[in-house]
Amino acid sequence: MQAEPALALTAGASAAPAFTVEKVPTKPIDGQKTGTSGLRKKTKVFTSENYLANWIQSLFSSLGDEFKGTTIGLGGDGRYFNKQAAQIILKIAAANGVKKVIVGQNAIMATPAMSALIRRRKLFGGLVMSASHNPGGPDEDWGIKFNYRSGEPAPERITDAIFGFTQSISEIAQADIPDTDLAVMGSSQYGDFEVEVVDPVADYLATLRMVFDFPLLREFLARPDFSLVFDAMHAVTGAYAGPILVDALGAPSSSILNGTPLENFGGGHPDPNLTYAHELVELQWGEGAADLGAASDGDGDRNMILGRRFFVTPSDSVAMIAANAQQCIPYFSSGLKGVARSMPTSGALDRVAAAQSLPFFEVPTGWKFFGNLMDAGKCSVCGEESFGTGADHVREKDGTWAVLAWLSILAVKNKDTPAGAPLVSVEDVAMEHWAKYGRNFFSRYDYEGVDSAAAERLVGHLRSLIDSSAPGTKFGAYELATADDFRYTDPVDGSVAERQGVRFVFTDGSRIIFRLSGTGSAGATVRVYIEQYSDDVSAHKEDTQAALAPIIAVALDISKLAEFTGREKPTVIT
Ligand code: G6P
Ligand code: ZN
Repeated sequence: MQAEPALALTAGASAAPAFTVEKVPTKPIDGQKTGTSGLRKKTKVFTSENYLANWIQSLFSSLGDEFKGTTIGLGGDGRYFNKQAAQIILKIAAANGVKKVIVGQNAIMATPAMSALIRRRKLFGGLVMSASHNPGGPDEDWGIKFNYRSGEPAPERITDAIFGFTQSISEIAQADIPDTDLAVMGSSQYGDFEVEVVDPVADYLATLRMVFDFPLLREFLARPDFSLVFDAMHAVTGAYAGPILVDALGAPSSSILNGTPLENFGGGHPDPNLTYAHELVELQWGEGAADLGAASDGDGDRNMILGRRFFVTPSDSVAMIAANAQQCIPYFSSGLKGVARSMPTSGALDRVAAAQSLPFFEVPTGWKFFGNLMDAGKCSVCGEESFGTGADHVREKDGTWAVLAWLSILAVKNKDTPAGAPLVSVEDVAMEHWAKYGRNFFSRYDYEGVDSAAAERLVGHLRSLIDSSAPGTKFGAYELATADDFRYTDPVDGSVAERQGVRFVFTDGSRIIFRLSGTGSAGATVRVYIEQYSDDVSAHKEDTQAALAPIIAVALDISKLAEFTGREKPTVIT
């Protein structure tokens, strides 16, 4: 191991190096392919020798000189290994020429909060230590991702370059600075390198204050006839819910469930859906239900919205937020620039866009596709069926934002509701929306852990079905309008994403879509998305599965899914 003084990093006045840089020899490690959500592996893989250090060094190597002398952010979702990982990252950042790292206290920083931090402080980028909604702990998952200058997930040119470097790396540059006490806010200076430990909530809260009418929300939350329950699932939003919902907005502290971030998320699976957020679901379907129930995931970017005994599908949530945004959220008071959804997300948003004459975009699955539209001023509000909702105040989906958006809708719609009269509820907002725009019944069937080759054969069959099915072909009671494998041309930079999902669109607007998940960890996950529109108000209260039963039967029949995968039943139904 050679040690060399970090002369380039030493302030001009001082001749003595502030720290030395060690060049630690290392070897490439297979499989450090970085997806758009970063690198996710078992924690034990990350804690094995140089695994994390190799990737971090490869990140800095891939950026060339671009980041030298700049400031970056660092934080994570509070999971096991984050605090140790932060020390490793700080030493490599210092050795590579980063000028300053702003770290969230106790290494906490939610994904949307990092995006806000980067944007407010004009940082070069930020590192988020998270495996999102995957469980945490020594035997569970760990992950790391890089966000770039606008606060957006790293573009592919960067993630590809990082992967390239991981395949040829031979040494890691590491500064011999001491561990920083991440529990204490303040600055530490090591020569020209500075670590500043900050409140992970402050910048994010300032961004939310710019979007929402806090005094209005505070007044609404003070009503004795309104109640909120927010399930932080022992994940990162536990660190945000207190300062934002309780301190800034005045909600009682009893409205926060599982509000202490834990390294193993209390042994749970911090994914806000009807399966994993069962504590909240039981509450909302029981006697003690709150008027608004909400949950967020490990790193705070996903959300689920519930009323009393009422689930708002993410596809409807984005449509309902968009429909009410101008009237209920000050940030949008001059109207929306445009709206966007991912392809498998239901067409509820399309109807709002059409009614309000808003520019509308349909992008492939993945939040990164919204960033260009937002940077180009084409999109204000967007969402995905996978429990992601957000806006152009940051460049990530934003769970807390979605909760405040729904609070804003309820607050405005109840401005004139006198005490004692029934409040306009989440369900009322949905019913009113459906009465106006019609209802897009939507469900997703997931088949997890399917044999990869079998899944590929299924997709092959579906692609040949596209070719052999002319418009007008009858599938049960449904008449085909178009069938294709979704292809997206980015209207901003012209880049093309192909083979993003096989879709069958019928003349009545119903759709059946098949996609292989891009985030699964074992085998393949087949996703089937089913959607059917109804403008018959008397049918709007119908149960989703009952309403969709005929089209689901068609989907399973034409895909021969059971035959290809050997699965009679889905693993998860959303
Ligand atoms: C992550 C991304 C989302 C995306 C989802 C899709 O959560 O942040 O933008 O919608 O993955 O996952 P899938 O497993 O369907 O590829
Ligand atoms: Zn997440």
